[in-house]
Amino acid sequence: MARGLTFTAGVLTALIAVVLVQETCSDAAEVNDHHCPPSSCGNIHNISYPFRLKSDPEICGDSRYELSCENNRTTVLYLFARKYHVQEINYNNYTIRVVDSGIWKDNYFSFPSDSLNRYNFSQYRSAYTTYLLKLTAHSIVTELSRSVVLMSCEKPVLNSLFYLDASTCNIDSGEDFKKRYRYVKVGRRTNASDVEDSCKVEQMFPTSWPGNDDPVNTSCTDVHNELLYGFELSWLLI
Ligand SMILES: *[C@@H]1O[C@H](CO)[C@@H](O)[C@H](O)[C@H]1NC(C)=O
Ligand SMILES: *[C@@H]1O[C@H](CO)[C@@H](O)[C@H](O)[C@H]1NC(C)=O
Ligand SMILES: *[C@@H]1O[C@H](CO)[C@@H](O)[C@H](O)[C@H]1NC(C)=O
Ligand SMILES: *[C@@H]1O[C@H](CO)[C@@H](O)[C@H](O)[C@H]1NC(C)=O
Ligand SMILES: *[C@@H]1O[C@H](CO)[C@@H](O)[C@H](O)[C@H]1NC(C)=O
Ligand SMILES: *[C@@H]1O[C@H](CO)[C@@H](O)[C@H](O)[C@H]1NC(C)=O
Repeated sequence: MARGLTFTAGVLTALIAVVLVQETCSDAAEVNDHHCPPSSCGNIHNISYPFRLKSDPEICGDSRYELSCENNRTTVLYLFARKYHVQEINYNNYTIRVVDSGIWKDNYFSFPSDSLNRYNFSQYRSAYTTYLLKLTAHSIVTELSRSVVLMSCEKPVLNSLFYLDASTCNIDSGEDFKKRYRYVKVGRRTNASDVEDSCKVEQMFPTSWPGNDDPVNTSCTDVHNELLYGFELSWLLI
């Protein structure tokens, strides 16, 4: 009996040792496999794990976080088959900030041709989230962006503090755009009661612009800045 116990204990110890050694080895292997010296592209100098550039050795980074370097200048993230320009990667808080590539940077700007909101991310089990788990005074989930909402209305909306008449902004979106009344509304949430009767939500674009997020008295400049700043996503999945 005593011999049997000792034997069992011996086998267990050996097993644990094997498991430990294997874990240590695979940890080491992982470091060697995926962590490479940082890559650089244009203004983004710190492209490192989990990110990788398409041109990096196969072994670097995580393929779900692949970026491309276009013309050696622009770091590009393809998301749902759309092209976004990477503005910064923050390893301190696990966020990447991107801007839709269809927005122009001069006096005129256009809205991206595709809406994007948090449902796009939940729908496709994206490798990114639109929120960050972070303990604040009010909650542990921090939304990383709010929405710029483009409304399309049959009738003019008069005297609304929340609706910015899009025709007063230099938006280049073709003739079709001018056939209806277009308004822009900015805010963390747009609920049904915020949508005027003759209007419907046409498109939504995320923004993380740290400037004015007061939905009252938004200006064209605010909207321009909001779209140009782009939005943060997190790669911290749970
Ligand atoms: C680059 O990113 C790594 C994490 O991947 C971090 O440890 C390092 O401090 C960053 N360097 C700079 C200059 O931001
Ligand atoms: C990018 O840079 C690499 C190395 O500096 C060079 O070989 C390549 O031709 C450049 N490509 C473009 C499109 O400029
Ligand atoms: C993450 O860090 C960047 C750079 O420090 C900062 O601009 C950004 O607001 C941070 N995002 C969050 C959600 O804390
Ligand atoms: C996000 O989802 C909406 C439908 O909810 C779709 O119209 C839009 O094209 C999607 N955006 C992208 C970038 O795929
Ligand atoms: C919806 O918006 C109205 C007016 O801004 C506000 O009074 C109400 O509390 C909001 N409801 C929700 C569920 O956010
Ligand atoms: C919004 O703008 C109107 C007209 O310029 C002004 O009378 C009103 O006080 C402003 N409201 C806020 C909350 O800034």
